[in-house]
Amino acid sequence: MTLRTDYCGSLRASDVGRTVTVCGWVDTRRVHSEHLAFIDLRDHTGIIQCVVDEKLDLRSEYVAAITGVVRARLDGANNDKLDTGEIEIGEATVEVLNVAEPPPFPMHERTDVDENIRLRHRYVDLRKPRMQRNLRTRAKVNSAVRGAMERQGFLEVETPMLIASTPEGARDFVVPSRLHPGDFYALPQSPQLFKQLCMVGGIDRYYQIARCLRDEDLRADRQFEFMQLDMEASFVGQDDILAFVSEAIADAAEAITGTRPGAIPTMTWHEAQERFGSDKPDVRFGMELTEMSDIFEGTEANVFKVPCVKGILYEGGATTLGRNAIDALTDKCKRWGAKGLAWFRVGEGGVLEGALTKFMSEAELAAVPERLGASAGDMVMIIAAERRVVNHVLGLLRLELGRPPVNEGGLQFLWVTEFPLFEAISDSGSPIPAHHPFTMPHPDDVDKLMVAEGEEFLEIRSQAYDLVLNGWELGSGSVRIHQGDVQAKIFELLGISDEEARQKFGFLLDAFKYGAPPHAGFAFGIDRIAALLAGEENIREIIAFPKTQSGGDPLTNAPTPIDPAHLEELGLRLLPPST
Ligand code: AMO
Repeated sequence: MTLRTDYCGSLRASDVGRTVTVCGWVDTRRVHSEHLAFIDLRDHTGIIQCVVDEKLDLRSEYVAAITGVVRARLDGANNDKLDTGEIEIGEATVEVLNVAEPPPFPMHERTDVDENIRLRHRYVDLRKPRMQRNLRTRAKVNSAVRGAMERQGFLEVETPMLIASTPEGARDFVVPSRLHPGDFYALPQSPQLFKQLCMVGGIDRYYQIARCLRDEDLRADRQFEFMQLDMEASFVGQDDILAFVSEAIADAAEAITGTRPGAIPTMTWHEAQERFGSDKPDVRFGMELTEMSDIFEGTEANVFKVPCVKGILYEGGATTLGRNAIDALTDKCKRWGAKGLAWFRVGEGGVLEGALTKFMSEAELAAVPERLGASAGDMVMIIAAERRVVNHVLGLLRLELGRPPVNEGGLQFLWVTEFPLFEAISDSGSPIPAHHPFTMPHPDDVDKLMVAEGEEFLEIRSQAYDLVLNGWELGSGSVRIHQGDVQAKIFELLGISDEEARQKFGFLLDAFKYGAPPHAGFAFGIDRIAALLAGEENIREIIAFPKTQSGGDPLTNAPTPIDPAHLEELGLRLLPPST
């Protein structure tokens, strides 16, 4: 038996005359006289005004069932802000279903509430329209991507949570084993190795909306536990994977916005670095990095006697950026790795003005504004250094100056392909994988891989690709190595000994001996795409029960100490806290 006939937010003028019962929480109440009160009752669909003709002890957030007759509001009393604003429930009788303490924070979205307090009382916070909307957005995203994967012939397979380590570059969360004291399970950073085993197992197309756990520093787009749409397919290449994922992404975006995004453009990692100074370019705005090394080839100016000079144009910046703002930007550029920021105001006739102009030749002074298409009132910003540093610093500066808020500029998806195979060289001289050690090198670079030394490793491309949305990395994937000998070579290059490889990934290497098909895959963050589709800057807003930035849960107080007897049973003894 259900207590209600209708949801609060679903009633309309067409319901006038009906006797209804609605259930929910008392949003507000206004007492007009001893016998006349207006109660706004709220459920997840919205708010309905109820007019009660009796004396009541009813407070905010009390749980009530209200029965009465739907009627038009009096002339002039309509509320445009409510979907139910033309009507009210009159002659209402109220049944209090439960009393409630005063809410720990105001329930109206106008008020900013400290996040710790919101999370401590998340069950109250979840009643707010914003959280209701966000969780529904998330559920729709899950449902849409699930539908898209099934339609494309992918099979949902659940992989274990208690595993041996899967390397994704973060720290593992570990779980002590009671039955094997001294041994630990790792919680999965991703289902990576299991999905590859599924391919060996002939699953052909696997997917899972998988919970992943990584012990890393938390940020607006990072939680310890998060969800991935994880997928893998056999006998396919990069193009197929991009098409499968694009389909799922388009379904998710359409489910939320009502509009199906067009085909997602592709850009190589190299181009992304050169034009945007980032492997996850926010292409909602221009301000691209412009090459100027040629202009300064024979320069007399010491600052520009470096391997690479590039600039960006900040339109109108000459008037909007004061000296303090420029100094602050210069400090940031130094923190990001540059020696400084070369900046110029553009005066009448496109003439550069600034402290550095006296060191520059006529030709240089003319070429810079021309190259950037600068006109009076603009600001030119130049970074001169090693190419990697220039791209990195200008990329960050570009975001600092031009990045639109999360809910502006539409949804600009982008595939970034041909990621480098290695991202750095370790102190011991071994290259460090940019993705994970199972990523296939680019076919044109395999020969280089065999002979590369030192920094040359950083030039080798892989068959790894990322999906980017508005400057956020949504997901990553790659074509995998399926030949034991190539994998062994990669382990050797990474400085992973045979013994270590056997110990860590022996089961995968063994599996590959039994007929591994060529395979490739991808995973994208559900939290991230749901946040962006909901117009939220922080994935905590799209998670029902997230951790705070410092990794705690103010609601349950996790993490908490455990009972000494429990520790004993697990064969563990704690060290005193380090000071
Ligand atoms: P990767 O490590 O790039 O790839 O992760 C894929 C996507 O998962 C999301 N993500 C996170 N979201 C929230 N909080 C985090 N701490 C977090 N870490 C990652 C991001 C990211 O792009 N196994 C590979 C995929 C593959 O190769 O198939 C993997 O996990 O959106």
